[in-house]
Amino acid sequence: MGKALEGVKILDMSHVQAGPTCTQILAWFGADVIKVERPGVGDITRGQLQDVPKVDSLYFTMLNHNKRSITLDTKNPKGREVLERLIKTCDVLVENFGPGVLDRMGYTWERIQELNPRMIYASIKGFGPGPYEDCKVYENVAQCTGGAASTTGFRDGPPLVTGAQIGDSGTGLHLGLGIVTALYHRTKSGKGQRVTVAMQDGVLNLARVKMRDQQRLKHGPLTEYSQHGEGIPFGEAVPRAGNDSGGGQPGRILKRKGWEKDPNAYIYFITQAPVWDAICDVIGEPGWKTHPDYAKPPARLPRLNEIFGRIEKWTMTKTKFEAMEILNNYDIPCGPILSMKELAEDKSLFATGTMVEVDHPTRGKYLSVGNPIKLSDSASEVKRSPLLGEHTDEILREVLGYPADEVAAIKAAGATTPPKKAAAE
Ligand SMILES: CC(C)(COP(=O)(O)OP(=O)(O)OC[C@H]1O[C@@H](n2cnc3c(N)ncnc32)[C@H](O)[C@@H]1OP(=O)(O)O)[C@@H](O)C(=O)NCCC(=O)NCCS
Repeated sequence: MGKALEGVKILDMSHVQAGPTCTQILAWFGADVIKVERPGVGDITRGQLQDVPKVDSLYFTMLNHNKRSITLDTKNPKGREVLERLIKTCDVLVENFGPGVLDRMGYTWERIQELNPRMIYASIKGFGPGPYEDCKVYENVAQCTGGAASTTGFRDGPPLVTGAQIGDSGTGLHLGLGIVTALYHRTKSGKGQRVTVAMQDGVLNLARVKMRDQQRLKHGPLTEYSQHGEGIPFGEAVPRAGNDSGGGQPGRILKRKGWEKDPNAYIYFITQAPVWDAICDVIGEPGWKTHPDYAKPPARLPRLNEIFGRIEKWTMTKTKFEAMEILNNYDIPCGPILSMKELAEDKSLFATGTMVEVDHPTRGKYLSVGNPIKLSDSASEVKRSPLLGEHTDEILREVLGYPADEVAAIKAAGATTPPKKAAAE
């Protein structure tokens, strides 16, 4: 089986998490991703949160599968020559440097178009054009400025960031979609284009339902929020909703058997209207099926605390598997809280390739999350991340066509090695 993006060459100047997430997905689908890294240092994440001394961190290895690495000093004249040849050779350039970095290197969009009019130039920045465009941004800054944090957590607590990396990885996924869209457009126009995604915009897009609620506030209280049933008035902005469901079917995280000792002994329970009768039977409240205070969804909304309290009395008597089995028999939507440990041991995730074991020359075997997007007619395998500069020679010779003497000249000029420090006076 072939790979969907075979033949697409990506000049990957991305670093940390947001850009690498994007190029990793493209690499899984078969694009040739050439990661340009600063000589001697490489992507900063290689050395961050290291669990094994002097070995590429899991932070790096889990975000850079299936790529090739070339070290190149883009401030060295010979290095710039090589970079320009890469720009002329590749289809897509991906970067998520701080604002203005590539322009300062001399590679404005105008210059890139001169070098290669078919080039798709894809960037992630923290903010779009406006008052904050020059700011550097990391994950949690994006979660806070994109509306996620103000709507996450409990009403009487501070705003919360989530563990899912919606700012970095979420924006990387948006960028990936922008790139394949631009590649598709190029098949008709013959021209490249600029693709940009701001992390604030990506998070806001993912928090879209909260912008829905912001507008609903003008027309009255948000009746599905627990706060409504508790008689607490709403303010001017969407409040934090705890674990209330963000959709039209009320839901809660409820304790299950063993909650006293196990921090993850909880289950998400959704009181979907069509299965209300089944819920009443399961929890032992058959009278609620016809009682005017409980029978219809609008009557239930002001009583959610009481209703979920009763359901929790039932879930507290069941283990995760017992509850899942009983509830799924009745098509009652529910989800146990799964820990990272449980997910790392879940054989069914390995069977689909969503979890994979990878072998690395200096680290040995480690687990990674594989490609969550499955295509029926295109293969997607996970190969280990490259060592720093592992493919420098191969890329210079095979991708860029430099003869041996020119490769030697590039190296002698210091284009692939760290700049020498000036001797102390
Ligand atoms: C993530 C971020 C905050 C990191 O900031 P940083 O560590 O200060 O790095 P920057 O991207 O600003 O700058 C990189 C520098 O390295 C230099 N550099 C990078 N690769 C190089 C290479 N191969 N050779 C020579 N220099 C190189 C750049 O020229 C730049 O130097 P300059 O500032 O003198 O022009 C910043 O890159 C950023 O805001 N990115 C956009 C938003 C984003 O993606 N954030 C999430 C990251 S997961």
